[in-house]
Amino acid sequence: MTMISKFAMRLYKGFLQIRWLLRLYMVKLKLTLKGVEFRIGKGSFFPSSASLDGTAGIGKIRIGDKVYIGRYSIIHSKELVSIGSNCLIADMVTIRDSDHCFSQLDKPICEQGFDIAPVVIEDNVWLAAKVTVTKGVRIGRNSIIAANAVVITDVPPDTIFGGIPARELRRR
Ligand SMILES: CC(C)(COP(=O)(O)OP(=O)(O)OC[C@H]1O[C@@H](n2cnc3c(N)ncnc32)[C@H](O)[C@@H]1OP(=O)(O)O)[C@@H](O)C(=O)NCCC(=O)NCCS
Repeated sequence: MTMISKFAMRLYKGFLQIRWLLRLYMVKLKLTLKGVEFRIGKGSFFPSSASLDGTAGIGKIRIGDKVYIGRYSIIHSKELVSIGSNCLIADMVTIRDSDHCFSQLDKPICEQGFDIAPVVIEDNVWLAAKVTVTKGVRIGRNSIIAANAVVITDVPPDTIFGGIPARELRRR
């Protein structure tokens, strides 16, 4: 593969997953790509290995100002993932607003559709490395989620949560 075709391939993949466009981190960005709405605030930064994507026509990802998203983090939206300003999202964090439905034993899970609920992360939240945030969760402002936690319930403001499932470790 020539250098040019390698570059074109990379650009194409980046276009699909809004990887490279997010290098325009000094401007506010509002755009719809492949039917997914993205709003990215000023000063937010994303490395090329972070992946932001969603379901065409319904997915929305809203990110405030001065948000840092770490390497290999994944944000996937089928309805809404909203992240406030000044948030720190460490490496290998996963945030998703959906689960697979699985109530029917006689049907493959992949044919049972999705259970969807928006995820809201308020301002000045730090999600440490390898945190997973599941559907329907709201994380209150100024809170911290310790490394490796799986967040399945709301987190109040000004609180440190950790563990699987994540529970309050202490107030800040
Ligand atoms: C949460 C964190 C910031 C430490 O907060 P802290 O309040 O100073 O924590 P402490 O070491 O005093 O521990 C307080 C309690 O939380 C527990 N705890 C700390 N980190 C935890 C974790 N990741 N998971 C579960 N429990 C944890 C401790 O065991 C302790 O429990 P105890 O009171 O029952 O003994 C730190 O543990 C952490 O997760 N750092 C993230 C590192 C990282 O991912 N960096 C990426 C850079 S962006």
